[in-house]
Amino acid sequence: KPKLTLTRLLEMKAAGEPIVMVTAYDFPGARAAERAGVDAILVGDSAAQVVLGYESTAQISVDELLTLARAARRGAPATFLVCDLPFGSTEVSDAQAIETAVRFVREAGADAVKLEGGGPERLERIRAIVAAGVPVVGHLGLTPQTATMLGGYRAQGRTVESARRLVAETMAVQDAGVCALVIEAVPTDVVAKILPRVAVPVIGIGAGPADGQVLVLHDLIGITEGRTPVFVKRFAELGTAMADAIADYSDEVRGGRFPADEHQYRSAPEAVAAARA
Ligand code: KIV
Ligand code: NA
Repeated sequence: KPKLTLTRLLEMKAAGEPIVMVTAYDFPGARAAERAGVDAILVGDSAAQVVLGYESTAQISVDELLTLARAARRGAPATFLVCDLPFGSTEVSDAQAIETAVRFVREAGADAVKLEGGGPERLERIRAIVAAGVPVVGHLGLTPQTATMLGGYRAQGRTVESARRLVAETMAVQDAGVCALVIEAVPTDVVAKILPRVAVPVIGIGAGPADGQVLVLHDLIGITEGRTPVFVKRFAELGTAMADAIADYSDEVRGGRFPADEHQYRSAPEAVAAARA
């Protein structure tokens, strides 16, 4: 399967072909995504919670996410790879934002980066990064890095003011040059009104059908625990499978059933003789 290009991305939108994106943060996860034939992989800063166990996405550093991004790239060398720009790595200046974006391209082989928000300074950063030659995916609606400012992890675009702001920011990030836009946690009917006015693909998560979907890998394979948002569908229960496997292993070791014959090296008679001597 040829790697997604920005031209192809627009063709898919025009043809109404749903774009499939999934997060991945390591070698096996990315390899599974590439084998499954997804269109794009997102090395999301959701890694902060689902991989590193932090409370918030805001806690992951550039170096931490870069390590995960490099592993994901090794697992999926032929898939379009988008990397999140962590909180704090773009806020200071356009120069800082460009430097961070360039690191993800040079050190992890990112095809694009993703930047949250649509406020005036965010638009400046988008323009700066795009001008530096790095494609930028926007992210509006629920933006986890600044969720505290939004009153917590809650759906956006549910009031007149919030819906107007979402429309304005959508148009603004589009003008600023994003190649695609993630919209998170916004009522389907609100997104449906915005979609026809956007030329670039809208990838939804908790945003209804849109031009494509993205889900957090650990949510969809059923590893995450606790309260999950309504937009999550668990396609497997690998968290349970993992715990069961480890429990079985423990039982077999304690019961003397593991290692069995087939897990042991055999047939070295001369060495046995020498060991006896
Ligand atoms: O970090 C992430 O996983 C994301 C997606 C939920 C869009 O930003
Ligand atoms: Na993210």
